[in-house]
Amino acid sequence: MTDRCNAPIGVFDSGVGGLTVAREIMRNLPEENIVYFGDTARVPYGSKSRDTVLRYSRQIIRFLRTQEVKAIVIACNTASAYALDEVEKELDIPIIGVVKPGARVACEVTKNKKIGVIATEATIHSGIYTNFIKNQDPEIQVIGKACPLFVPLVEEGWLKDSVTFEVAGRYLRELMDQDIDTLILGCTHYPLLRSTLREVVGDKVSLVNPAYETARELKELLKEQNLTNLQDQKEARKYMFYVSDLAEKFRKFADSILPFDVNTTKQISIEEY
Ligand code: DGL
Repeated sequence: MTDRCNAPIGVFDSGVGGLTVAREIMRNLPEENIVYFGDTARVPYGSKSRDTVLRYSRQIIRFLRTQEVKAIVIACNTASAYALDEVEKELDIPIIGVVKPGARVACEVTKNKKIGVIATEATIHSGIYTNFIKNQDPEIQVIGKACPLFVPLVEEGWLKDSVTFEVAGRYLRELMDQDIDTLILGCTHYPLLRSTLREVVGDKVSLVNPAYETARELKELLKEQNLTNLQDQKEARKYMFYVSDLAEKFRKFADSILPFDVNTTKQISIEEY
């Protein structure tokens, strides 16, 4: 039992964006070890088909199993939308995605029952946020909008640039016209645009970052399944980072997001899994 509790949590994403989720897990579950995998060679997932994203996710899960993870978090919204239901059936360890936790909290937050969702084309196309929300409360109206330009803008570091502000204004106009009071940031990169988005939507719209709720759900899940790491934190703390392409960009991005420097990132050949 103890060995299993000390095992790491596997967290994966199509690239760097999932570090926003890993960061929340590190903050909320400081006792846990993490193996992070970013599929930097095959990013973006947001414009790929369900079959491709499912195949990639299965490969990554096979790799994470070699690291003897005790649980898996799909930090990527697109992979959560396209792969979670399938891979969950194939696994004997707990696995969660970011979509359900985000949808749940948005339902709690909305007052006028009008929720906007911004995400990749794939996530919006899957209809997954709408389905979860409607399952919770069929009266809630969900307005989805794919915002494909946000990912490259974030990766370029243009978080508060006038161009980003202009793009955000155009994407969000439709949602604002429909009077949403809650906006789900349904893509790993979008929480980094929080202050620009806040400026565009104003103070009356609640911004929901699914990463917070995912970390909370993970904590509960580990507790329920007696998987919480009880080892002394200082000794136990260990984060490993793996990527499928050793782009310098990953380290730079990671250093800007995480509260410590990521000195070692290992490249693996994910197609072999
Ligand atoms: N990680 C993806 C997501 O949350 C965004 C980047 C991509 O398209 O791969 O949907």
